[in-house]
Amino acid sequence: MASTAARPPLPPRAPIVPPEDLESFQQHLNKSTRILALLGAGLSASSGLPTFRGAGGLWRTHEATQLATPEAFGRDPGLVWQFYSYRRHKALQAKPNPAHYALAELARKKDGFMTLSQNVDGLSPRAGHPASQLKLLHGSLFDVKCSDFFCKYTESANYTDPIVPALEIPTDESDPTTISALEARAELDISDENVALPELRISDLPRCPLCKKGLLRPGVVWFGEMLPTGVINDIEKWMSDSAKIDLIMVIGTSARVYPAAGYVDSARAKGARVAVVNMDRNDAPARGLYNGDWFFEGDAAKIVPEILKSVIGEITEMPDAAVEA
Ligand code: APR
Repeated sequence: MASTAARPPLPPRAPIVPPEDLESFQQHLNKSTRILALLGAGLSASSGLPTFRGAGGLWRTHEATQLATPEAFGRDPGLVWQFYSYRRHKALQAKPNPAHYALAELARKKDGFMTLSQNVDGLSPRAGHPASQLKLLHGSLFDVKCSDFFCKYTESANYTDPIVPALEIPTDESDPTTISALEARAELDISDENVALPELRISDLPRCPLCKKGLLRPGVVWFGEMLPTGVINDIEKWMSDSAKIDLIMVIGTSARVYPAAGYVDSARAKGARVAVVNMDRNDAPARGLYNGDWFFEGDAAKIVPEILKSVIGEITEMPDAAVEA
């Protein structure tokens, strides 16, 4: 007869965040009425989207940050469109993760919670984050506008992928006898510099339907450009609505890009305690952490739902808010 030897119990799993930090954070969160969040690319990392700096910050041989400039677009609009078309495609394939849903739920639970996102990937809106409590500091991959200074054409929620046929990601159909039909259609990874980019002519790129002269460009804020005036005004109004801010959560951002990173100081000046969620302990906000701040080290997708639980409970993933492909 087979014996069933008792298995040794599994070792207890280490908590995601130290219990004493979790408790003091949640006590503060529960009584906070004016809360800010500053979000960055690390929030979407576990949805499979690369960050800008550090690992994943290179696209082919180019620093991602070097392609995000008006000068790069002026020099080589085809290359810049290939980069953004790839990012649009990847963002559409990605899904919001539990942290996006948790922040959206916190916004529904607390009227005085405002989120400032540097992310252009559309995942917070798709997680159902209320639009009135979400300011997109750096625009959206799914907005497009005319690059001609004198033309004011803009278009939002453009999910056409690819935006023009010439930007279709090529597939590997090199040897259909040895690869299955499905694999033969597998997309090539054009972020890999060893994969040849398709030839592009300027006439292949998206053109403004209004002035018919300018090229369309992604509706994101590039280095050296102003943040959208409406967004800045809304944030300034929110900031000045009350003399105090209780808390700012700085999630998945290297907090190096201004003016976005400056909101941490503005919140602190109004009394906010700072809670950082980041994989990298070196990525605290520029002026460091003070007594009474928190640093939660690890994956935002796991930590954010955990630390917000005292207000939002267990999060259930909701259906992805519709993206008409
Ligand atoms: N969970 C939490 N943090 C993470 C994770 C993760 N799973 N993965 C990476 N991070 C952290 C990194 O340690 C880093 O601090 O996310 C941060 C990402 O930093 P950046 O790549 O600099 O991205 P971000 O701060 O959003 O950049 C700001 O710069 O290039 C411009 O306009 C672009 O909006 C962008 C802005």
